[in-house]
Amino acid sequence: MSTKTRFGPQKIMFPCPTTLVVTGTMEEANIVTIAWVSLLTSQPPTLGISVGTRGFSGEAIKKNKDFTVNIATVGIMLEADFCGIRSGRDMDKFAQTGLTPMPSRLVNSPIIKECPLNIECRLTDWRIIGRTNHFVGEILETHVDTDKLKDVDHIGSIDVEAFDPLIYIGGVREYRRLGPKTGDPYKIGNNLKTKQ
Ligand SMILES: Cc1cc2nc3c(=O)[nH]c(=O)nc-3n(C[C@H](O)[C@H](O)[C@H](O)COP(=O)(O)O)c2cc1C
Repeated sequence: MSTKTRFGPQKIMFPCPTTLVVTGTMEEANIVTIAWVSLLTSQPPTLGISVGTRGFSGEAIKKNKDFTVNIATVGIMLEADFCGIRSGRDMDKFAQTGLTPMPSRLVNSPIIKECPLNIECRLTDWRIIGRTNHFVGEILETHVDTDKLKDVDHIGSIDVEAFDPLIYIGGVREYRRLGPKTGDPYKIGNNLKTKQ
């Protein structure tokens, strides 16, 4: 019989996406690695990011009023980690990593060319909880690398293997990659032999 070990209040939740959040302009922008990110609402589409108050990015997002969320891949793991252990206060992380800023369509903050999914957000709300800024961004535009779509008219046709997102396992502190597909959500549950 399996038992449970209690740990009290902890900050462990996985898997998390490894995202690179950019705020600023094409001339001057910062990149920060953020794993605490979540879709919040469908209509309008919004997402939330948790950004510590001690870093450079929190104040910058409040000033710029927009940001982009860019999904990191296994191919840029070193660059993504670097952006999570260095501060924009001390350096230009685009220059240091060689990651390439590209103009967004609707916000000032650039997107990152090397990331296959890029989400443009306008800051619509924020509050501080504890020592963390909670930013709500309205999603205004979404970009996907065309060569990672099986059908260019359909965002749900993303080729997940080609995408190769960098997965962060919080608490355990590991980077991993996705495993194989195991089922079709919203469908496979119909096959359960129910107990009653
Ligand atoms: C994998 C990974 C995930 C991270 N996730 C977050 C996060 O969700 N929120 C946060 O505030 N910091 C997170 N960090 C830490 C920041 O990226 C780090 O403090 C960064 O140096 C701040 O940069 P800045 O001063 O340029 O804003 C993460 C770091 C790593 C390596």
